[in-house]
Amino acid sequence: MSRVLTALQPSGVLHIGNYFGAIEPLLDLQEHNENHLFIVDYHAITVPQDPAALRKNILYATAVYLAAGIDPNKTILFQQSRVPQHTELGWILNCFTYMGELERMTQFKDKSRGKGESVSIGLFDYPVLMAADILLYDTQVVPVGEDQVQHVELARDIAKRFNNRFGEVFTIPEVRIRQSGARLMGLDDPTKKMSKSAESPRSYISLQDSPEEVEKKIKTAVTDSESTIVYDPEHRPAIANLLTIYSLVSKKTTEEIVMNYEGKGYGPFKTDLAAAINTWLQPIQEKTLMYLKDEDQLRRILDMGAQKAKEKAEKTMQRVRQTIGIIL
Ligand code: TYM
Repeated sequence: MSRVLTALQPSGVLHIGNYFGAIEPLLDLQEHNENHLFIVDYHAITVPQDPAALRKNILYATAVYLAAGIDPNKTILFQQSRVPQHTELGWILNCFTYMGELERMTQFKDKSRGKGESVSIGLFDYPVLMAADILLYDTQVVPVGEDQVQHVELARDIAKRFNNRFGEVFTIPEVRIRQSGARLMGLDDPTKKMSKSAESPRSYISLQDSPEEVEKKIKTAVTDSESTIVYDPEHRPAIANLLTIYSLVSKKTTEEIVMNYEGKGYGPFKTDLAAAINTWLQPIQEKTLMYLKDEDQLRRILDMGAQKAKEKAEKTMQRVRQTIGIIL
């Protein structure tokens, strides 16, 4: 039994990369572990958010998690901002993190590119709040997609630094990425990761896409210059990415899929892939809509989660405050 934790931003679109990178891995884990899944609304505001849209997206994300099979009786499901200990610990950890460390974060470099001096402190400081998210619950395992590995490593470094100074206050978390699907690539550009902040929605399959949109996006997805269907991520990244997606949604191995398309071209492969995505997506979309109909229930679930999380978080905070010499 391990303490497992992950979180996602409620910034509009959730795409299949988010689903397979971070939501699905929790489903098996929730049976035998202490699971925590939350919606990082305070991370989302590091870039401008429309308040009404943010409110909607928090409920939407909650509905998606439930639709995916997250059971709020097995997984503590909550909203980050409802547990103020996250920002409190974030502040304290700021005092144990170096500017140089944050300057090295590739996500910050990507997101701040071209913004010059007018990039927010929040965006810069974002990984420290994430470290607080993780360390607050004595987390042992953090399942994430590949793009978050560097942030989890920073959380480990901060925890070790703190422990070296004060003794064993924090548990050192381990990152866990899935073997296949930890980094789905853009459908329009297989050299870039599938991203919700991509310029074109053609980059990703959103969990809200209609069957027609899925078909269109797969039909126009970039392929390689060769026409055979083989799994070779190094030399044929575009088709390898599509095969990975096919494998994830159909639960077949890439070898099996490759065998089925021997001697066939991209046409039938793409038609079948779009159909497989839609078959997988339809029940998730139906359940999401069902959960969204009962907003009170969603709020009750988030309330229950926040209460449970707060109790745990406060225990850690008492230990931390005591340790650093804050009079209680
Ligand atoms: P976010 O909201 O950007 O992404 C949520 C999760 O989806 C994964 N992901 C992907 N996985 C596979 N292929 C992709 N193309 C892809 N794109 C995104 C991400 O790796 C992530 O696991 N900072 C985090 C949220 C966070 C967090 C935490 C995570 C805040 N506190 C504590 C773990 C623990 C983020 O912005 O994720």
